[in-house]
Amino acid sequence: MTTPAVLILLGPPGAGKGTQARRLEEKFGLVQLSTGDMLRAAVAAGTDAGKAAKAVMDAGELVSDEIVINILRDRLKEDDVAKGAILDGFPRTTVQAEALDGLLAENGQSVNAAIAMEVDDAAMVERISGRYTCAGCGEGYHDSFKQPAAEGVCDNCGGTEFKRRADDKAETVGARLEAYHAQTAPLIAYYDEKGQLSRVDAMGDIDAITAKMTEMVESAIS
Ligand code: AP5
Ligand code: MG
Repeated sequence: MTTPAVLILLGPPGAGKGTQARRLEEKFGLVQLSTGDMLRAAVAAGTDAGKAAKAVMDAGELVSDEIVINILRDRLKEDDVAKGAILDGFPRTTVQAEALDGLLAENGQSVNAAIAMEVDDAAMVERISGRYTCAGCGEGYHDSFKQPAAEGVCDNCGGTEFKRRADDKAETVGARLEAYHAQTAPLIAYYDEKGQLSRVDAMGDIDAITAKMTEMVESAIS
């Protein structure tokens, strides 16, 4: 894999990684690589990886490094990644971060920037429990914060079917936040030590956060 840019979005469940990745993907012509989306597709397709991942995801815990690294390694070989990648939800452990560095180093590359999205845990429960997405195109919505302009019709593709995630129940969100703090938050120091970290206040208006992150991405890939 050789790509012009590799960006990482780091943040707890509900931080807005998916929301902002989709916007940055459009603005910069990069490809959003969400390991959560890949795992949910594997679960839906009933692959071996999906069968192994399902119960772990439903419990709000992290899927094994081996499964996730294999999925990401295969995805990085696909042609569209040559445009550049925004990693949404990967890496989530130090083992994954080191594996990513190794994969990139094979092509003389490194991470351009890891953006830590800083939010309040309490607000995350509210964000996640109101979340739903378009079944057709995956556009994200929220019961309180972001409804389609025309009720029941996706702004992006005109679809009329929407879905909610199995792990978005209030009791599972607590476990997901715990997994984040125990296993993923240490990556903030990992990227800080390498001089690759940027931090963004990810509370507040979605458009304002996009504007701040756009500036960060511009300076990281210029
Ligand atoms: P994953 O799918 O990655 O979920 P997550 O990290 O828990 O994050 P979310 O997708 O819930 O949140 P988000 O940050 O994308 O927020 P969003 O933009 O949707 O992972 C799911 C599971 O898969 C994991 O628990 C694990 O089991 C497994 N997994 C995945 N990757 C793995 C890995 N690398 N290793 C091991 N296991 C892995 O926004 C949330 C809501 O808030 C939306 O409704 C949105 O509209 C709204 N919103 C967004 N921004 C704002 C704002 N500024 N103000 C108000 N509302 C907002
Ligand atoms: Mg997401």
